[in-house]
Amino acid sequence: MSVRPTVFAVVNQKGGVGKTTTAVNLAHGLARLCAAHDAGHVLLIDFDAQGNCATSLGVPPNDVNLADVLTGRGAIKDSLVHADRSADGLPRPNLWLLPSDRRLAEVKTELVMQEALTNAMAIMRPNEGSRSVPLLNLLESRLGTLTQRFAFTIIDCPPAHDALSNAVYQLADAAVVPVKLDFLSAVGAGQHIENVRRAQMSGINIAIHTVVPTFFVKRQVQDNQVLESLIDAYGVKVIAEPIPKNQVVPESSASGGGMTLFEYAPDSPAAESYQKLVERIYYDR
Ligand SMILES: Nc1ncnc2c1ncn2[C@@H]1O[C@H](COP(=O)(O)OP(=O)(O)O)[C@@H](O)[C@H]1O
Ligand SMILES: [Mg+2]
Repeated sequence: MSVRPTVFAVVNQKGGVGKTTTAVNLAHGLARLCAAHDAGHVLLIDFDAQGNCATSLGVPPNDVNLADVLTGRGAIKDSLVHADRSADGLPRPNLWLLPSDRRLAEVKTELVMQEALTNAMAIMRPNEGSRSVPLLNLLESRLGTLTQRFAFTIIDCPPAHDALSNAVYQLADAAVVPVKLDFLSAVGAGQHIENVRRAQMSGINIAIHTVVPTFFVKRQVQDNQVLESLIDAYGVKVIAEPIPKNQVVPESSASGGGMTLFEYAPDSPAAESYQKLVERIYYDR
């Protein structure tokens, strides 16, 4: 059975809300389901210059990576990393990573400035036409055919709202949005539940497929209130089962050189919640 190519961007304009955790576990969970159904391969693209996807999976970030693909200085075939770690007892036969490292930050600046310059030139000299391409076209030409080869592509986005992030959102079919429930207690911003939503979810200009409540502590009244307000705002169909706040989550990415929850703690409530998210996205596209 083959599955229609589907690209999901994992987005939230704040850092530390569980984007990378969600992207990595979603990608691996989908890869496991695809393998079970003989439904193809899964690609994880790391669009954050911190390069945490490679670390979380325990694979090398590669000398040639997304930064080079975006500038056209490197080929995709040299940049893709097979995330399979069968040699370490961690088989991931159909999971692939397009990693990033710090150089992505410079490349982003370069691309965003290029686009601004192109726009300015187009205004000043309307008859000359511009030779440089807008960011979305550039992303589509560099990554579009790649994503066609995968049953699913998961894009781990940086916590930013620049022109490149916007173009990345457009490249995706839909967004998966992790929302940190205890966000206000973390930033000490008071009791306004609506602010949790606004601070993390504004400016996402593509369809929201699923909201994933993260860092959920069942006994915390405020977590439950935020959860209810999310359900009120987006409808019960859009809100995934909350991911519990648990030590096994940070432990997993630090263990065995970098393991997913399905490898490190498959019976944990966090792994079970992520598995439900995986199934929801696999069957419910
Ligand atoms: N459900 C959770 N429970 C406990 N810790 C978590 C949970 N989800 C993520 N974390 C930890 O919180 C930190 C930030 O998560 P991360 O996924 O890197 O967020 P982002 O990509 O949005 O910056 C990481 O150390 C991660 O291991
Ligand atoms: Mg991240």
